[in-house]
Amino acid sequence: MTTFTGWITHELPDGHRAALEELDDGVLDDRDTTLRVHYSSVNYKDALALQGRPGVIRRHPLVPGIDVTGEVLTSRNHRWRPGDLVTLNGAGLGEDRHGGLAGLAAVDGEDLVPVPDPFTPAQAAAVGTAGFTAALSLLALERHGPAPGHGPVLVTGAGGGVGSIAVALLARAGYEVIAATGRPELLHERLTALGAARVVDRAELDTKGRPLAKQRWAGVVDAVGGPLLAGALAGLRHSGTATTCGLAASAEFPGNVLPFILRGVSLIGIDSVRTPRERREAAWQLLAHHLDPALLDSVTRTIPLAAVQEAAADMLAGRGTGRVVVDVRAH
Ligand SMILES: NC(=O)c1ccc[n+]([C@@H]2O[C@H](COP(=O)([O-])OP(=O)(O)OC[C@H]3O[C@@H](n4cnc5c(N)ncnc54)[C@H](OP(=O)(O)O)[C@@H]3O)[C@@H](O)[C@H]2O)c1
Repeated sequence: MTTFTGWITHELPDGHRAALEELDDGVLDDRDTTLRVHYSSVNYKDALALQGRPGVIRRHPLVPGIDVTGEVLTSRNHRWRPGDLVTLNGAGLGEDRHGGLAGLAAVDGEDLVPVPDPFTPAQAAAVGTAGFTAALSLLALERHGPAPGHGPVLVTGAGGGVGSIAVALLARAGYEVIAATGRPELLHERLTALGAARVVDRAELDTKGRPLAKQRWAGVVDAVGGPLLAGALAGLRHSGTATTCGLAASAEFPGNVLPFILRGVSLIGIDSVRTPRERREAAWQLLAHHLDPALLDSVTRTIPLAAVQEAAADMLAGRGTGRVVVDVRAH
């Protein structure tokens, strides 16, 4: 029996709570590959799960953590050997399968991606689901347009995890990036350093319910939903594309069909959890090609396993910025 430290949820009559405990390998699922976890991260979903909010965890007890980066200990999958450094985002981790916020993880080898050059394992964790989702959003823009040079792309929630990495990724890929944030003064310098051509106050996107506004953006990468997404769509140019992945503001979509039927715009949904392997690999290749590790470091902080609750509370209160990596070996 091997013991390790990890977060685990317990069901309560009115919800659940997460506790840091000593666990043993009997708790793990029966999967073909066992990892020594080096790093996980705090994503919005992790923050909800850790803070006892509903909607993410689908069984108890469950190890939270939708990202895992570590070293293969044993594998029955022909792709992996002991010592290989691998990473995995989503695929049910931290939702209906035990996740990454513990010293050991059992996963399906089929889902794993090697930690790609030029990233270290800590940087792969800094990318995490947030960066992986930013990359899936860029892949969608590459498929549907606009191409770089064909007009500005608006990124909402630019100060957050998905937003920060989307700004850096799109800028390096050649897009003119307009970063929308609720904290323009605080984050102006940081977002400009990531590659934003312009930083706008998200209040500017509020069209007060008007379905059409001045055509400003050729593309949109949205992680917040709600009126901001509706406002971004109202300002999308004819034939433009928006991607939607998140609900940091709201799960509601108070939108209107006019941008679709009068301007031929498209809205593409992004789901990072159930992404087939080829697409996972394509997203990670894009990240390896376009995401500068030094820029990634500039928006990342690393915390020990015991400090995740504070980071989760900050994130849900809208005080978080960039990415939070969890060093699972440091308690
Ligand atoms: N579909 C998927 O597969 C997928 C994958 C990853 C994430 N997500 C979702 O994407 C969203 C963002 O995730 P994240 O990890 O980037 O979270 P995050 O780091 O907390 O960033 C969210 C950002 O949204 C902005 N925001 C927060 N509250 C807002 C409000 N009331 N109105 C407008 N903007 C607000 C803030 O940016 P500013 O302060 O700069 O405005 C905040 O930093 C979450 O809903 C998450 O669940 C979905």
